[in-house]
Amino acid sequence: MANKFHLGWFLNFSSPSWLGQFDGNNDESWIDGEFYVDIVKMMERGKFDFVMFEDSLMVSDVHGGSMATDLKYNMYAPKQDPLPLMAKLGEHTKHIGLIATASTSFYPPFITARMYATLDNLTHGRIGWNVVTSSEDRAAQNFGLDLHYEHDERYEMADEYVEVVKGLWNSWDPGALVRDRETGVFADHTKVHPIDHDGKYYKVRGPLNMMPGPQGQPTLCQAGGSPRGRAFAAKHANTIICSATGVSEMKAYRDDIRARMVEAGRNPDDCKVLFVVSPVLDETDELAQAKAARRAVMTPEGMDVALAHLSALTNVDFTQFDLDAPVPEITTNGHRTTLEAFLRKGGDAGTKTLRELASMPSLNAVPFVGTPATVAQQMQDAMEQVGGDGFLISGALSRQAVAEIVDGLVPELQRRGLARTEYTHATLKDNLLAF
Ligand SMILES: Cc1cc2nc3c(=O)[nH]c(=O)nc-3n(C[C@H](O)[C@H](O)[C@H](O)COP(=O)(O)O)c2cc1C
Repeated sequence: MANKFHLGWFLNFSSPSWLGQFDGNNDESWIDGEFYVDIVKMMERGKFDFVMFEDSLMVSDVHGGSMATDLKYNMYAPKQDPLPLMAKLGEHTKHIGLIATASTSFYPPFITARMYATLDNLTHGRIGWNVVTSSEDRAAQNFGLDLHYEHDERYEMADEYVEVVKGLWNSWDPGALVRDRETGVFADHTKVHPIDHDGKYYKVRGPLNMMPGPQGQPTLCQAGGSPRGRAFAAKHANTIICSATGVSEMKAYRDDIRARMVEAGRNPDDCKVLFVVSPVLDETDELAQAKAARRAVMTPEGMDVALAHLSALTNVDFTQFDLDAPVPEITTNGHRTTLEAFLRKGGDAGTKTLRELASMPSLNAVPFVGTPATVAQQMQDAMEQVGGDGFLISGALSRQAVAEIVDGLVPELQRRGLARTEYTHATLKDNLLAF
């Protein structure tokens, strides 16, 4: 009997694909969230564990010192705040988990604790927090800093931040909400406690001015790639989303996280690691291969976007380098793992030119290509080798792309016993723990 795996979808609250022949009115219906209502309902039909909305807090102009590329290709902007969208999605769905990103570097912990507790109540226990430290100097400059905090220190701050937020969520004992009509007591003050946190980075008295939601502590999601980031994720996360390349790297990442969880005194089965993938599906394997080959062709625009992404995430302007020479040694205070993965695409560092690296398609955990039956088998094989726990679907977004997965691939996975056929629990956290 095959082991089931978990499914999530990686999204951002910006425009989905809008220039293709099958993109319909995508670009008109995202601003008020209606596009996302449509597709998240579809994903709930596919019994996805959760959707995860990433976020960033800047318009990037690192690439060539101009916002032109960012805005032309809708890369980091416009992008709306995913938190209010969670309330809207919660109204239109019943079971699927809803994870939104918030940065520990810029939001006060009291606000974060309160926002997610409120959303946990509004969604009846389906909210998750993707805990990120952010990586961009341009974001830091929107919050009073000249440059972003140092990479590992961001995680030191985040550790303390999450302890504060958890403390606030725990500042109401179970049963504190009395609502006793006879005594007229609404909430019992003896069951509500200040946290009096006075640490290196944060000073927060508490208690939270509201009771926690159905999950108590909302589901925590993380994506640390560096050693410090992984340690943080292993300590706190209920689910980890990981961009790894190839089955052996996926397995090594998951094994490392599980070992770190044991070190942190946690049961490794309490955190589900989901790997980023972009399956390419079609009616026959040949058609799917042809589609994948078409997508892999790098246009000049595609190369510009790839390099602009890298510039934004690393705070390094990639237009300064010779396209026809190997990339010189670079250090970054931004996304270290993204930079390393890019440089590693060409094998040993320094063996490929920047143009060659940028022309190679971005790497996926495993390139799943074929009919739903072929891809289901490929997914099963990969999961068996890695040991778990699931996949995070990513890639160009349209109603058509979602339908191919939800109405093509997922039923095939379900027939093979690889994907859930029903939500067995009410909360996101419990559904993640169901298998
Ligand atoms: C699937 C995935 C989603 C991510 N989403 C965000 C996000 O929404 N906002 C953000 O600032 N960083 C995001 N990150 C970056 C991670 O939080 C992390 O910074 C990155 O993986 C590098 O790891 P490190 O911080 O340990 O160096 C994401 C990473 C991955 C792999």
